Amino acid sequence: MEVSWGCTRFVLVLAVGFIFSVAQVCNGGRTSSFVRNDDLSLDMPIDSDVFRVPPGYNAPQQVHITQGDHVGKGVIVSWITPDERGSNTVLYWAESSELKNWADGFVLTYKYFNYTSGYIHHCTITDLEFDTKYYYEVGIGNTTRQFWFRTPPEVGPDVPYTFGLIGDLGQTHDSNRTLTHYELNPAKGQTLLFVGDLSYADDYPFHDNTRWDTWGRFIERNAAYQPWIWTAGNHEIDFAPQFGEAIPFKPYTYRFHVPYKASESTTPFWYSIKRASAYIIIMSSYSAYGKYTPQYKWLKDEFTKVNRTETPWLIVLMHCPFYNSYAHHYMEGETMRVMYEPWFVEYKVDVVFAGHVHAYERSERISNIAYNITNALCTPISNPSAPVYITIGDGGNLEGLVTEMTEPQPSYSAFREASFGHGILEIKNRTHAYFGWHRNQDGYAVEADSVWLLNRYWNSLEESSAAAL
Ligand SMILES: [Fe+2]
Repeated sequence: MEVSWGCTRFVLVLAVGFIFSVAQVCNGGRTSSFVRNDDLSLDMPIDSDVFRVPPGYNAPQQVHITQGDHVGKGVIVSWITPDERGSNTVLYWAESSELKNWADGFVLTYKYFNYTSGYIHHCTITDLEFDTKYYYEVGIGNTTRQFWFRTPPEVGPDVPYTFGLIGDLGQTHDSNRTLTHYELNPAKGQTLLFVGDLSYADDYPFHDNTRWDTWGRFIERNAAYQPWIWTAGNHEIDFAPQFGEAIPFKPYTYRFHVPYKASESTTPFWYSIKRASAYIIIMSSYSAYGKYTPQYKWLKDEFTKVNRTETPWLIVLMHCPFYNSYAHHYMEGETMRVMYEPWFVEYKVDVVFAGHVHAYERSERISNIAYNITNALCTPISNPSAPVYITIGDGGNLEGLVTEMTEPQPSYSAFREASFGHGILEIKNRTHAYFGWHRNQDGYAVEADSVWLLNRYWNSLEESSAAAL
């Protein structure tokens, strides 16, 4: 009996230990206890000062820039003249130079149901010097407007650079707070990576495209001075055959141009850029991505082109996250994850940024690629070659926050909080980058979550990441 009881007790201890360790594994990261005002956000009124039209008849408005080539020596300047075609020319000059140059662009207009756009100008400036401040001017006569930007340093492995991250911005008072916090963040983002869902014009009757115009005027104060790198979200689809608008992404593709040809893409929805020490791949959650599709074929080639000796940091942007533990949009990214996660692990992607879910979440370095239908290996496991997945869909649009979470917090989720905010990714050198998440209720310098990211190529055998908080 003694022996038997001893054995039973030993088995019991083992069982309790096992249950405890399973509980440890199942218990995920941290769900923030931050308490915030839960009001649904309202859009800023159409006559808000934030949307003001610049003075002067037909003055250029909605000025914004993005990268215009593959390496950062080019800039696409876009703007709209509301009533007349005006000039397609951009005048530009280096800060230290008297010599003025010009580049000629082209103009587009489109109709969407009962809306007719203004004259949408796009002009690509090429062969700029790296790491140089340029002034530029658009418009004619007494309505010219002047802005400036700084080109990035030459692409190289140890070039520090700071990216901002915003997603699902919209045009509410919260959107305005998010952009203000980004602008006043002392970390000073140099280029904004935008992970999709821009204006939310499609939430209005007949997708009222005047809300695309107000959004363009809202972001100008930042997007005219630093490049915004665009990702298409579901609110860019604008597919409405019920009133005759059956071409997906119509307003988005007229208004926001990207340098997709420079990365041998055939469409603006997926493309890549190099900037400083980063190689950034932009994917489309709402274009075909199954095997043999154009996006699949492009991405398959694209990963082989990344030279981590030149650009150590491999970053992927997409709208719909692969890993999400909120109830809303849960598993929407699953089909794309099944398609592409093995490549993300094989090519050691450092970090994947997504939006869509109106909240913030950061994952552990995990993968879920072993499953083959019959082997039951369908649980994410720790994987040092896997990216960190960050959901930053908390820009502040009129649909409000999502607060309902899957419980218990899954082991893949390191930190989650339903608050509006933005992210900052500071690349220090080829081995270290620092990511911080800033919620709108805090001071501009406060980080509500942060993590050191160790480069997957240059730190492949080290600890995947070390949480700073
Ligand atoms: Fe979305």
